[in-house]
Amino acid sequence: MSGKEIVSSAEVTVEFNAQRCIHSRNCVLDRPDVFVPNVQGAWIHPENATADEVLEIAHNCPSGAIQCRKPDGAALEQAPKVNLVHVRENGPLAFHAPLSIAGKADGFRATLCRCGASRTKPYCDQSHVGSGFQATGEPDTTPSEPLQQRDGELVIDPTHNGPLHVTGALELVSGTGRTIQRVTDVWLCRCGHSGNKPYCDGSHVKYGFVSD
Ligand code: SF4
Ligand code: FES
Repeated sequence: MSGKEIVSSAEVTVEFNAQRCIHSRNCVLDRPDVFVPNVQGAWIHPENATADEVLEIAHNCPSGAIQCRKPDGAALEQAPKVNLVHVRENGPLAFHAPLSIAGKADGFRATLCRCGASRTKPYCDQSHVGSGFQATGEPDTTPSEPLQQRDGELVIDPTHNGPLHVTGALELVSGTGRTIQRVTDVWLCRCGHSGNKPYCDGSHVKYGFVSD
């Protein structure tokens, strides 16, 4: 499956971007009547749920592959009150914030590659599974002060052959929900080789990381 599918009911329009899906399967496990697994043909059925229920499914999709809006195009999704990035064990960085990625507004959720192997950088395409990427989801805590502002636009600049430069209020969170650090400007490794993950330590130069 590739590309985008757009399906509407009377209450809600669902947009599914297959290239962005990381197969966490929250959608098909939570609402198999709305996202029907293992069928030929039509598999997205927003008519089986209310707009609020579809919104909840979208909010639980970490990659942003599922987005929704009202059929007239009006927004349904809302920005989170606290900008977060979850550091996933052996997997990507899962952002939840009003995102601007590589200069474009990009919704509220995205899973970005941190193993260096994705063919759809800066997004994760599950290549970390095949490449056997290993990186803890429980990095050490770095002492930090609570942020005065915890929301607002988060700007992610995937630098050429280098890390993700992230500016804006952001709380880094471990797989178990522990706060790793609170930042407003940070460089996050996306080559897979840093000795200080999730932060860049300059190893991308030594390993000759090629981002595109
Ligand atoms: S919840 Fe999102 S990322 Fe997970 S399988 Fe469904 S569409 Fe893909
Ligand atoms: S991007 Fe991995 S060390 Fe800099």
